Amino acid sequence: MPNKTVLITGSSSGIGRATALRFQQTGWSVAATMRSPEKETELGKLAGITLIRLDVTSEDSIEAAIAETIKRFGGIDVVVNNAGYGLVGPFEASTPEQIRRQFETNVFGLMNVVRAVLPHMRERRAGVIINVASMGGRITFPLYSLYHGTKWAVEGFSEGLQFELEQFGIRVKIIEPGAIKTDFYDRSMDVMKKAGLVAYDSFVNRAMPNMQRAGENGPPPSIVSEVIFKAATDGSNRMRYQAGTNGVLFLRRLLPDGLFMSVIKRAVLK
Ligand SMILES: NC(=O)c1ccc[n+]([C@@H]2O[C@H](COP(=O)([O-])OP(=O)(O)OC[C@H]3O[C@@H](n4cnc5c(N)ncnc54)[C@H](OP(=O)(O)O)[C@@H]3O)[C@@H](O)[C@H]2O)c1
Repeated sequence: MPNKTVLITGSSSGIGRATALRFQQTGWSVAATMRSPEKETELGKLAGITLIRLDVTSEDSIEAAIAETIKRFGGIDVVVNNAGYGLVGPFEASTPEQIRRQFETNVFGLMNVVRAVLPHMRERRAGVIINVASMGGRITFPLYSLYHGTKWAVEGFSEGLQFELEQFGIRVKIIEPGAIKTDFYDRSMDVMKKAGLVAYDSFVNRAMPNMQRAGENGPPPSIVSEVIFKAATDGSNRMRYQAGTNGVLFLRRLLPDGLFMSVIKRAVLK
């Protein structure tokens, strides 16, 4: 049995929850962090899993969760920055508060977790930081402009960070899931709508059902947790890992911008 510890953000559902279970099954100590651990009735009963409160938009809660994990398990080997959600709709319908919350959660929250864990990993001269970006961190779809802004930011941040952390034995990994069947497309989604703004209605009515269907018909989050586990344990310097992307990123590399965009339009604006 490995005597190793992983801290995961957003473990209450979807990919984060599947990841907590994946590590637990292999004997890891798991700090399954979430905003509302009092609502979780199953994970905390499993041997090796400890529920810890962590809201990525609160620096105090990040510091406290990391300190508690180190105290309880003696260290943190792997951090999985998974917490996040989608802000969806026409940009013109957004409010500054919605935009701020989207970036506070998906980007600044993730950065704050990384900053908080770095002194510990640097001191140990070891650690793996796994950032859950998205296939949407390298390509875009209609009505997801702000979400893409956050995930492209996570991609650039993660790739750039690798240069300075390599010297301390800390590796940064980027996970790029395709459409996965989780609460992402349901209770977690924040929809941009503005009273009286009808100019985008027909576009929204064409694109939204197709985007939703991709999620509903997507593979389960376990295919992503398997890839996250591989990224944590393969010992390689590989940076990017995909799950459920069906060759779309390969196509992106092959095609010029205009042609690729027309493929996306044809698929989503049917
Ligand atoms: N599903 C997909 O198709 C897909 C594709 C690519 C990438 N992703 C990424 O995968 C990650 C996980 O999403 P999912 O698909 O598993 O969706 P999900 O089932 O909705 O899970 C999202 C998780 O993030 C948590 N969360 C939201 N805001 C938080 C905050 N401020 N602090 C801490 N936790 C917070 C949620 O907690 P609560 O229970 O408290 O709301 C929940 O545990 C996200 O980063 C998402 O962008 C998903």
